[in-house]
Amino acid sequence: MDDLKQIEDAPRGLSRRDAIKGVIAAGSASGAAYLLVTLNVNGQQRRADVMKQETLATTLRYKLGLTGTKLGCDRSECGACTVLIDDVPHYSCSVLTHTVRDKKVQTIEGLASASGKLHPVQQGVIDEQGFQCAFCMSGFLMATVGYLKVNPNPSRAELAHGISGNLCRCQDYDKILTAMMRGAENLRKVS
Ligand code: FES
Ligand code: FES
Repeated sequence: MDDLKQIEDAPRGLSRRDAIKGVIAAGSASGAAYLLVTLNVNGQQRRADVMKQETLATTLRYKLGLTGTKLGCDRSECGACTVLIDDVPHYSCSVLTHTVRDKKVQTIEGLASASGKLHPVQQGVIDEQGFQCAFCMSGFLMATVGYLKVNPNPSRAELAHGISGNLCRCQDYDKILTAMMRGAENLRKVS
């Protein structure tokens, strides 16, 4: 809670990101218990010093620079932080980083191919112009990609249920679902 207060009380002119970096640095200077972990993220071995209570969302965003994973509620309600862990969607704001050391983490940055070609579900968003502000987009994409691994040919209702753990503050659900259905169709064509 002290750390959160420090972030909330950041002086004017200091960004939230700067404040978080300051908290991390302060923890390091004060001898807080850090673990050096190696994580498999998007097929790469990534090393980071993490606190025992540190969430995967924090590590991804503020230590590994993978800011495509968004933080909305930071308490398992919105799905903006969804990543795949061993191919299963998880809220990364509610997973402790040190618990995924022996697992494969995939974030939105790891969806496109190495050549830069978009994943078929990402292409579905382009095809259908599926989001308004798109803050929720990476979470929806990761949830959908994870769901399609177990049900590659869902009905619209099935997919809606499958990704119902993700919220959109713009309430653009119908268009999002259309885009995700198009993405599923794109994926079946190349599978
Ligand atoms: S930020 Fe993780 S569920 Fe909302
Ligand atoms: S499109 Fe704005 S939060 Fe979903």
